[in-house]
Amino acid sequence: MSIGIIGSGAIGTAFARTLARAGIAATISNSRGPDSLKELVHELGPSIKAGTREQAARADIVFVAVNWSKLAEALAALPDWDGRIVIDANNPIEAPLFKPADLRGRVSSEVFGEFVAGARVVKAFNHLRAEILAGDPKEKGGRRVLFYSGDDKAAKAEVAALIDRIGFVGIDLGSLAIGGKLAQFPGGPLPNQNLIKID
Ligand SMILES: NC(=O)c1ccc[n+]([C@@H]2O[C@H](COP(=O)([O-])OP(=O)(O)OC[C@H]3O[C@@H](n4cnc5c(N)ncnc54)[C@H](OP(=O)(O)O)[C@@H]3O)[C@@H](O)[C@H]2O)c1
Repeated sequence: MSIGIIGSGAIGTAFARTLARAGIAATISNSRGPDSLKELVHELGPSIKAGTREQAARADIVFVAVNWSKLAEALAALPDWDGRIVIDANNPIEAPLFKPADLRGRVSSEVFGEFVAGARVVKAFNHLRAEILAGDPKEKGGRRVLFYSGDDKAAKAEVAALIDRIGFVGIDLGSLAIGGKLAQFPGGPLPNQNLIKID
């Protein structure tokens, strides 16, 4: 399974760091192009390569962590998604105003899904602050919990396997309509719950 990352800010980098720690290969991208990522990939280590947005988007699993208002542009004019897995790590709110986006009553991942029509969307990696996500998932005799939700069982199983490989414990919250809502920030009860499952 190849992995691409669109967005190299706080969350894209935190995710890349968890992959690098486990020696998992990925291509990371941003709006400024691979040259702007030289220092970051050097720091992350040999498994993480810098690429274009298009290169990252061709992977089997594409992790998206972009400011809410920039998602449409970041996901425009990319190759057909064709059933590939897209991880939605985004929250519908952003600096500097921190005013929640108007979702017209919908779950944010359902709105996100319109930017990646034809992809199998799994909501995950959005409920913890970047510095916690980037840190060691092993703590106090247990492993940090990550929630995930989605409407495609096989896609969720792939993301669950990845969560396990990078050392976290995954908890399936169900469909996007149900799980996405529980993990949604702002509004859901799960964001910022930094939970450890004792093994
Ligand atoms: N920060 C957190 O603790 C946290 C926690 C959970 C979820 N989230 C969510 O994760 C998402 C990203 O947050 P963040 O804190 O990582 O934001 P960030 O640090 O501001 O990084 C945003 C990234 O998006 C990239 N980007 C913007 N427009 C793009 C485009 N057209 N094409 C490709 N890349 C583009 C930026 O590229 P450049 O680097 O080239 O500008 C940047 O790398 C947001 O939806 C946020 O709500 C954040």
